[in-house]
Amino acid sequence: MALYALGDLHLSFQADKSMEAFGDLWHHYVQKIDKYCGRLTADDTLVLTGDHSWGRNLAQCATDLKFIESFPGRKILLRGNHDMFWDAKKTQQLNDLFKDRLYFLQNNFFSYGPYALVGTKGYCYEGLDTYEHFEKIRDREVQRLQASFDAAVASGYDRFIMFLHYPPTSIGEFSSPFTEMAESYGVEHVVYSHCHGRERFGDSYIGEVNGIEYHLVSGDYLGFKPERILK
Ligand SMILES: [Fe+2]
Repeated sequence: MALYALGDLHLSFQADKSMEAFGDLWHHYVQKIDKYCGRLTADDTLVLTGDHSWGRNLAQCATDLKFIESFPGRKILLRGNHDMFWDAKKTQQLNDLFKDRLYFLQNNFFSYGPYALVGTKGYCYEGLDTYEHFEKIRDREVQRLQASFDAAVASGYDRFIMFLHYPPTSIGEFSSPFTEMAESYGVEHVVYSHCHGRERFGDSYIGEVNGIEYHLVSGDYLGFKPERILK
């Protein structure tokens, strides 16, 4: 039994948007995902940290989600910035629709032994919008992460693994509301993805910082092999 994480599969079985065009890191990525995720066992948990599919709605994501369902073990999904099929306010409907097949992490938590797996999409500044707009989106994500922690604490958990889609800090930052929250709850691991390409892999923390282990699990960073976070 182990806890694994991988992000940014960017599947496109029903959308003509293969990532093969994005260089050597994406070469045969679907085959690699199939091979490495197919090696998990029935008692493993795999957290997929967002940007699962290029489909723009649930119908257009059906084959991609079916592919994810085919991996052994429990699959927990986090929202990425491209996951148009997932309205954050309707997460319970997704959990009902995919009951016992896929698990959607938003304003809730899932347990893994003594740990609560908490998370939200997060946000970092990439220069794509005004700083005011960035702060508005980021603050909403902080509230959603708080709701996830609150649910876990209310159920008696005091050990946490925290998942984000976006990196926990913007380029040039040494802390953010997300790292501060992780530190205040004594989170043991922070896991994120979103960064693609060699020039983006160093955007945020990797390794131990202030007692927290940070993991970048973007598919192209890991060669599409899920990273083991806990035994
Ligand atoms: Fe992303």
